[in-house]
Amino acid sequence: MKQTRHRKPVIAANWKMNKLIQEAVSFVAGFPKDPEPDQKIEVVICPPFTALQTVAEALRGTKIKLGAQNLYPKSQGAFTGEISPLMLKDVGCTYVILGHSERRHILGEQDTFINEKVQAALAHDLIPILCVGETLEERRQGQTETVCRSQLLGSLEGLDAEAVKKLVIAYEPVWAIGTGVNASAQDAEETIAYLRRVIAEKWGDEAAAAVRIQYGGSVKPQNIAEFMACANIDGALVGGASLESDSFYEIIQGARRGSERHEV
Ligand code: PGA
Repeated sequence: MKQTRHRKPVIAANWKMNKLIQEAVSFVAGFPKDPEPDQKIEVVICPPFTALQTVAEALRGTKIKLGAQNLYPKSQGAFTGEISPLMLKDVGCTYVILGHSERRHILGEQDTFINEKVQAALAHDLIPILCVGETLEERRQGQTETVCRSQLLGSLEGLDAEAVKKLVIAYEPVWAIGTGVNASAQDAEETIAYLRRVIAEKWGDEAAAAVRIQYGGSVKPQNIAEFMACANIDGALVGGASLESDSFYEIIQGARRGSERHEV
């Protein structure tokens, strides 16, 4: 049965630690100002901190939203080297990526700290894109659901259903990130449907129906439509393939095509 999607999908570019200011400027100059004219998909670009201001200016007057890749969970103070949610709002961010696997695995971030960040983002009216996902070893041991469940519940501790409805969650299997090996659309759909059930159990059906859950990990122009045709997948968090304006634009177009095939 074909059914119209009631959640607005989000396609977000995660540039990670890439692009000098001039490269960010060139990207935006070569990217359509109105990549999604009928506004059925939300488009977000998450540059590194140093390019936020420039990209914010370049995107002014467009519907493309700005996102950051991290924050420190305090408004201001003696936290040398950190960036606060207040500063992200000030520079024009709407979204912030939190709990990315590179921060969990390279920088040792734990769920309790990520939970503080989620709460701080929401308190400052920033929409968290909360990432969860299993490693290859965990997958091989059949722990995908247990790991994702525990990351999700740990990172969202203390939130009420209204807060949960505002979130974007990104299911990003660690073994699929930057490897060229994406999860199959069917596997991603199964895990994302499972996460939605976990949310329904804890926060109720309404929150589970409202929360947007993306897939991330080696998303490319060639595979996005397949993911978007799945009932529970509400967009993608895109790393490598978001660095070139042409391929990121092709992903948005593919997302639109896939969304039209969306079946329930
Ligand atoms: P990738 O990264 O698209 O390069 O696999 C995704 C991510 O880390 O968000």
